[in-house]
Amino acid sequence: MSEPHPPPAPSAPTSHRVVVHPGGQHFDVQAGHSLIEAAVAAGVDLPRSCRNGTCRTCIARLRQGRVHYRIAWPGLSFDEHDEGWILPCVAEPDTDLVIEFVTPSTENVAPLDPAR
Ligand code: FES
Repeated sequence: MSEPHPPPAPSAPTSHRVVVHPGGQHFDVQAGHSLIEAAVAAGVDLPRSCRNGTCRTCIARLRQGRVHYRIAWPGLSFDEHDEGWILPCVAEPDTDLVIEFVTPSTENVAPLDPAR
């Protein structure tokens, strides 16, 4: 007689939704893919160049959600990190995200999501 199988363990979502401001475009990121990789696959044109976290062409503001990096030292200062700047070419989402493309020197700073 065989043992009953336990119910499958709950698993983390396999993809996360990213909404891009300004404009409101959106795309989904599968586990193991960077935001830029997923945007390109979805036909969403985001600023990019090196794709390895050094040139900062892709820098964006994280308005909602949380990311982790696939490299140890993405090209952000501690202050930029604390202010919510991310490098989408080496960032992978942990949650659904809202990101915004503005430049650090010209942005009109809005309050950040305190839950980040
Ligand atoms: S594309 Fe160069 S840092 Fe992201």
